[in-house]
Amino acid sequence: MTNAFEQIIENLRIKHEAFKASNIMHPAEPLQYDCPLCEDREIVLIEQEDGSVSARNCQCKARKIQKRMFKASGLTEEQALMTIDDYNVSLETKKMYQMTKDYLCGQSWREGKGFALVGSVGVGKTMLAQIIASAIMRDFKSVIFIPTTSLMAELLAAQFSNDKSEFEQRIERLINADVVIFDDVGKEKPTEWVQNQYFRIIDGRYNQRKTTGYTSNYEFGKLAERFSEFGDAIISRIIAMTRDYQVSVKAQDYRLR
Ligand SMILES: Nc1ncnc2c1ncn2[C@@H]1O[C@H](COP(=O)(O)OP(=O)(O)O)[C@@H](O)[C@H]1O
Ligand SMILES: [Mg+2]
Ligand SMILES: [Zn+2]
Repeated sequence: MTNAFEQIIENLRIKHEAFKASNIMHPAEPLQYDCPLCEDREIVLIEQEDGSVSARNCQCKARKIQKRMFKASGLTEEQALMTIDDYNVSLETKKMYQMTKDYLCGQSWREGKGFALVGSVGVGKTMLAQIIASAIMRDFKSVIFIPTTSLMAELLAAQFSNDKSEFEQRIERLINADVVIFDDVGKEKPTEWVQNQYFRIIDGRYNQRKTTGYTSNYEFGKLAERFSEFGDAIISRIIAMTRDYQVSVKAQDYRLR
């Protein structure tokens, strides 16, 4: 299974290199399949000796499922390529780095355990959360990585939309996905209606013991204040879901070093 992932990564790398090497348009090429074995049907037919035909999944299927997972995750290709080795550790960020490493080594997402990376701006919280997301997908679990600004925009748009069904589906997906990582929680001060929807998602995940990760610039107490009406209800669940992996760091912005 790991090999399948490595294959994807290798293909991405080759694609990336090719893209970097030239921006020239190529003439249309004859139709080619990603997998000549099954012509991208993901199923191969096998003729038995007695003439009957049976079907089995092609060897490319696992790889393609994983590829779709990466696409649906919200991570760019570049972000999906990052690993913990890309993170440069300093004295101040060592604690956060080590905790992330422990989380990855213990494959704690398998037990429904979440994580909370709290700290000042530019210490690599988002980067580490993306590294975790990518590692989880290598474990063949689907992940939704969602920046707070996108989530709030979605929720706000839904609030003023007449057709609520699409929105309800989105909420259901956020509640039921194997793993969801909320990036930059508290960045925007939400309206009461938005808080209510946010609470529905968090509460749904909490009740089902779904793996949920968070990053935030705000300590839990401050965060509860920002979510005024639903603050305690939301934050108490976040704390419970991330109990074994919570870290808070203050360090210089990596970009200003
Ligand atoms: N320790 C680090 N090693 C390598 N790159 C880092 C590190 N910390 C931050 N960066 C980079 O600096 C930028 C800001 O990091 P980011 O993860 O967005 O910080 P935060 O989410 O904590 O505000 C990103 O481009 C990130 O890749
Ligand atoms: Mg961030
Ligand atoms: Zn195939």
